[in-house]
Amino acid sequence: MLNAPKRLIIAITGASGAMYGVHLLQTLKRHPGVETHLVVSPSGWLTMSSETDFGKAEVEALADVVHAPKSIGDSIASGSFKTVGMVVAPCSMHSLAAIANGLSDNLIARAADVTLKERRRLVLLTRETPLNLAHLRNMVSATEMGAVIMPPVPAFYNKPETMNDLFAESTRRVLDLFDLLETTEHTPRQEWQGLGTKA
Ligand SMILES: Cc1cc2nc3c(=O)[nH]c(=O)nc-3n(C[C@H](O)[C@H](O)[C@H](O)COP(=O)(O)O)c2cc1C
Repeated sequence: MLNAPKRLIIAITGASGAMYGVHLLQTLKRHPGVETHLVVSPSGWLTMSSETDFGKAEVEALADVVHAPKSIGDSIASGSFKTVGMVVAPCSMHSLAAIANGLSDNLIARAADVTLKERRRLVLLTRETPLNLAHLRNMVSATEMGAVIMPPVPAFYNKPETMNDLFAESTRRVLDLFDLLETTEHTPRQEWQGLGTKA
């Protein structure tokens, strides 16, 4: 396994913002050092078609390996299949609830469950607004188990000019959480250097 690509599971669920998952896949497609395993929920395909011009075949072609959400016996359902972790981008409140409560009733929830039990990195780009108490409680539960709740809230201090700037910033943040930023030449590290105000 020396120099083997690092495997990253990417799930796209039925919250608004399917493009966050697509942008991540597009970025990682250029990097042979990362092997992407994609699972898209049926609702994820629904939001994909209503929010983007990407078809199923086009999205699936961006991934190294594609898994069906019903294929509960696939590789990523087992902890013995080594990955650097999993990102759910975007993460619906339904998938958040399933993950936070250990339901494992489809491959997305199962792979997330495995990621947590193996103490690997799980990043959830949770998207809903406003939030009810169940959403907030599920975010707390997932955090208590080790997940990182990362709502895709844009920052404006980098002065984004296009939608792509917003997606790129989010992708950079996600990759940084997996320590993959340094290996992805198209997404150079951009550290905040401070405002430079004089004391
Ligand atoms: C166009 C559209 C937009 C949606 N946006 C959201 C959203 O932003 N957040 C959310 O939690 N659910 C959203 N939903 C509802 C989820 O898709 C729904 O709860 C679904 O059961 C989620 O299933 P999944 O987690 O298996 O993808 C949306 C549904 C549709 C059709």
